[in-house]
Amino acid sequence: MTAPDITVERLGADYFADPYSVHARLRAQRPVTPVILPGGPGAWLITGYAEARAALADPRLSKHMPGWHPEPDSIFAALDLHMLNSDPPDHERLRKLVNKAFTARRVQRLRPRISAITAGLLEDMSTRTEADLLASFAFPLPITVICELLGIPAGDRDDFRTWSATIVANTAAPEVFQAHATAMIRYFMALLAAKRREPGDDLLSALVAARDEEDSLSENELVSMAFLLLVAGHETTVNLIASGVLALLLNPAELARLRAEPALIGAAVEELLRYVNPVNHTTFRCAAEPVEIGGVRIGRGDPVLVALSGANRDPARFGDPDQLDLGRDSSGHLAFGHGIHYCLGAPLARLEAEIAVSGLLARFGSISLAVPAASLRWRPSTLIHGLESLPVRLAP
Ligand code: HEM
Repeated sequence: MTAPDITVERLGADYFADPYSVHARLRAQRPVTPVILPGGPGAWLITGYAEARAALADPRLSKHMPGWHPEPDSIFAALDLHMLNSDPPDHERLRKLVNKAFTARRVQRLRPRISAITAGLLEDMSTRTEADLLASFAFPLPITVICELLGIPAGDRDDFRTWSATIVANTAAPEVFQAHATAMIRYFMALLAAKRREPGDDLLSALVAARDEEDSLSENELVSMAFLLLVAGHETTVNLIASGVLALLLNPAELARLRAEPALIGAAVEELLRYVNPVNHTTFRCAAEPVEIGGVRIGRGDPVLVALSGANRDPARFGDPDQLDLGRDSSGHLAFGHGIHYCLGAPLARLEAEIAVSGLLARFGSISLAVPAASLRWRPSTLIHGLESLPVRLAP
């Protein structure tokens, strides 16, 4: 990566907790800046809204990065060959295989089940006056939903929660990363073999049939799809719910507004998406040829990251962007990305968050932080932006 006359910004561990002030500073200088990630590689980081949209719609920013993908016969290819790592036409082929299961109409059918899971979790919490809202509520809801949809035994979730956390972290030691990625691959291989022997009424069984009967995807693509859906389905919505509730607790006037007007929930979830950014950066893209964005020339082969959280707090697009305002028009936010890789699970995430936040507020008339906000810890990842835990006090 070359950046004549531009200073390369080295991002420290404090970036995990507060990416926003870094983005504001970088954006004010230049909305496309070279950075070195905490514990990791360098990339062009895009922090401006207009530049982010342009980059995400630009087919020259590809998912094929020389030297970044495992060899096809390496065991790690089994996690790599998914739609979020693919360009057309493979991207379209892979996305089409699961698209129908995630349309807004199909997802609405899950409403009763999501409501029942939510009610059960709230019931469990109702006997306590203090709880970790992340461990007791924000995590189990989406993981239960995605496990049921895919046909993954929910009892295995502590294992893959650990592996997945390592895979999305920036700071894991290479040997730990390798060990956890290998464990994840072995887990999925065994699970898919079991579905092959005894198919269920679930999405993974349908994908096994698409592989075996119609040859629509390769074995590595099958395992990679299962991996992507599981990780994308549970590493993200947890942060929308937990960081969203935190944002409401830290903005009591907005919380009171939502309590007074529960019908605001749809707009509230959109504003929380814009404001809390469960996914901080997109995944990497690479310039297949030189590209100019925001007046900066990105050279062929250079890696590019879009700071969705930076774009969503760009004052040129959203007035007073650091203010949570449930009444504002947050449409056009980039929390779910943009372009061909726009989040497949957006309707599901929105529905889960609406049911979760409404249910929580209806059940507990009083919710407050049980620790000082400054002591909350954030996960060491630049891909996702999420809390380690959220201790709260609850009262009916
Ligand atoms: C609040 C929750 C969620 C947020 C903020 C979110 C955000 C995103 C973003 C930003 C992308 C694009 C990444 C990029 O361009 O590099 C993406 C892609 C994707 N998301 Fe989500 N996501 C959420 C929930 C879900 C859920 C529940 C699922 C369900 C399985 C899901 C499945 C996917 C998939 C499969 C892709 C890849 C799409 C493609 O490459 O065409 N996401 N998501």
